[in-house]
Amino acid sequence: MFNTLIANSMPYMPKAFVGFFAKRYVAGATPEDAFSMTQALNSEGAMGTIDLLGEFTDDINKAKQTVEMYKLVLDNIKTKNLDTNISIKPTAFGILLNQETSTKYMTEVINYAYGKGIFVRIDMENHPYTDYTIDLYLTLSKEMPKSCGTVLQACLKRTQDDIKHITASTEQANIRLCKGIYKEPDEIAYNNRKKVQENFLECLELLFQKKAYVGIATHDDVLINGAMELIKKYKLEKHEYEFQMLLGVRSELRKRLLAEGHRLRIYTPFGEDWLPYSIRRLKENPAIVGSAIKGFLTC
Ligand code: FDA
Repeated sequence: MFNTLIANSMPYMPKAFVGFFAKRYVAGATPEDAFSMTQALNSEGAMGTIDLLGEFTDDINKAKQTVEMYKLVLDNIKTKNLDTNISIKPTAFGILLNQETSTKYMTEVINYAYGKGIFVRIDMENHPYTDYTIDLYLTLSKEMPKSCGTVLQACLKRTQDDIKHITASTEQANIRLCKGIYKEPDEIAYNNRKKVQENFLECLELLFQKKAYVGIATHDDVLINGAMELIKKYKLEKHEYEFQMLLGVRSELRKRLLAEGHRLRIYTPFGEDWLPYSIRRLKENPAIVGSAIKGFLTC
């Protein structure tokens, strides 16, 4: 009850206050912050995926700046020899203006990355963009084989059908599987924790059966344990899948997965526009803010 209240008041809290708790989830405001964080992760044995924060833009100049910033990131990944790829979002490239704009800009970034041999993950946003994102992924991975992958969300009822469609349309699908962060209507989504967990493991099994390369993106022990059983069942080698986690979440799990020799990639966001992302992350775990406020009120 207290935590729900905290979660709902998050957008109205002062930026500096949210910033205090949000620091753990972002590398910093500048690209240099993302590079040094990636270097630190690499030295631990983890890979990265760098994300420039700033989504849902309807400003064409901001979309253009996003393209230029990603090119700078890609140049530095190469020159600094960082073990990381990048993650990009349609709404950061102007899809709110029109699809032609975001397709043009995202293609430009993926083409630039392809020239440098760097993989691009197209993140999955809320349901109005699901078809668009899957279609773009399928088109670009045909034009530039293995250049990019996308994300599927276990909360959506359509996801098993999407897996069948994607794996029938491309040689080796490259999919990050996650629960899904966006609040979606009951008609199209499971809004029940247990059902999402069940669907996650069913989707993961289907992806393994279809020989997709999967980024298993979760911090949930039920899903990590279920994934380990499926990895054993399908006798997968360590290079045939990877785990993925968010920066600032469950560092003890990160250490355990690395110690067990699994490939592990950390989502590493940076940028001036850190507030909406941080609020989303804190809403997932309002207990972090809640316990600090409780401590403050009782001292
Ligand atoms: P759950 O939320 O149940 O978390 C399990 C445990 O992890 C919690 O009990 C807690 O201990 C810890 N934890 C989780 N979140 C925390 C937080 N913010 N702070 C502190 N502790 C926390 N979604 C999407 O819709 N589109 C996308 O493209 C992506 N991309 C993506 C990439 C990667 C690498 C990851 C790991 C996740 C995403 N997501 C995403 C987000 C995803 O859909 C989901 O919202 C989060 O991963 C949380 O779900 P879990 O499976 O971790 O379970």
